[in-house]
Amino acid sequence: MKVLVTGGAGFIGSHTCVELLNNNYDIVVVDNYSNSKPEVIDKIKKITGKDFKNYEIDICDKEKLDKIFAENKIDAVIHFAGYKAVGESVKKPLMYYRNNIDSTLTLLEVMNKYNCKNLVFSSSATVYGSPNSLPIKEDFPLSTTNPYGTTKLMIEGILKDLYISDKDFNITLLRYFNPIGAHESGLIGENPNDIPNNLMPYIVKVATGEYDHLNIFGNDYDTIDGTGVRDYIHVVDLAIGHIKALEHLNGLRIYNLGTGKGTSVLELVNTFSKVNNVPVKYEITDRRAGDIAACYADVKKAFNEIGFKATKTIEDMCRDAYNFVIQNKKY
Ligand code: UD1
Repeated sequence: MKVLVTGGAGFIGSHTCVELLNNNYDIVVVDNYSNSKPEVIDKIKKITGKDFKNYEIDICDKEKLDKIFAENKIDAVIHFAGYKAVGESVKKPLMYYRNNIDSTLTLLEVMNKYNCKNLVFSSSATVYGSPNSLPIKEDFPLSTTNPYGTTKLMIEGILKDLYISDKDFNITLLRYFNPIGAHESGLIGENPNDIPNNLMPYIVKVATGEYDHLNIFGNDYDTIDGTGVRDYIHVVDLAIGHIKALEHLNGLRIYNLGTGKGTSVLELVNTFSKVNNVPVKYEITDRRAGDIAACYADVKKAFNEIGFKATKTIEDMCRDAYNFVIQNKKY
């Protein structure tokens, strides 16, 4: 089976490529390296000892994408490519809508032309907005709080309509909770170009001395210690979730990918310090606008229907995230 991976050099895409190759899938990778680096391709090859075709293209370029489908008999697509920074999306909404929606529509038109009707889409728990209760189930009401999240919700809508119009499509929407960690080889991991918005990349930069301290956004939430609670999932577990989704492609399916366990900011910081034996200085500041107190997944549907269960611990996530940065001396 030949799988086209859009955004295959990115954080989640690269780890998924490794798992696909380890599971004997043929892959073709496309990436425009707008938020990733070409050397990641060599690292995927090094980890797996396998070769594959990769193309530097923007998937909004229909002619180039068409050529790739003409040159390769693609059986299924995993679609990761897209802009993903929440704060940037608030400042540049048109750029987010143009890129994320246009690229997906172009991809779907070309897939349709080549009769490739198997798709796994990279969605996000952001589509649940502020949930009324926890844990979050797949049939909870959907809403968003920023343009990035709205592009994910809009694409989910496009894919649902496409499926209604043509039942030959098999489409699985995967709603990720908070992916962190890195491959245990230390060769691939999360490597944001700018100042990180997300918690784990920021903790790592404090641990390496690049930043003086972490700002913890509020300690007066109604949670175990007052700090925000999230469902952190190891990126390798998340990647394995895509293999399960591919194996069970059948009609329109929607799954949460998380661990089902909530971890507070302070718990994550303390575990990181302990596992890596490194101090992480922090200060408590005001809440960040738009943040919710707690968010974690109900993981039963993914387990019952596609046999997915995350196995890696918060300790694994902290160790692997730090190991990646140490090994690559990105500080
Ligand atoms: C955010 C996005 C989500 C996206 C996800 C990617 C929003 C509303 N949601 O989720 O759409 O898919 O990132 O992983 O932005 N925190 C600090 N200090 C920091 C950074 C974060 O205390 O410097 C806290 C936050 O308040 C939160 C927790 O850490 O309680 C996790 O934050 P973050 O990593 O940014 O993820 P989310 O906000 O859950």
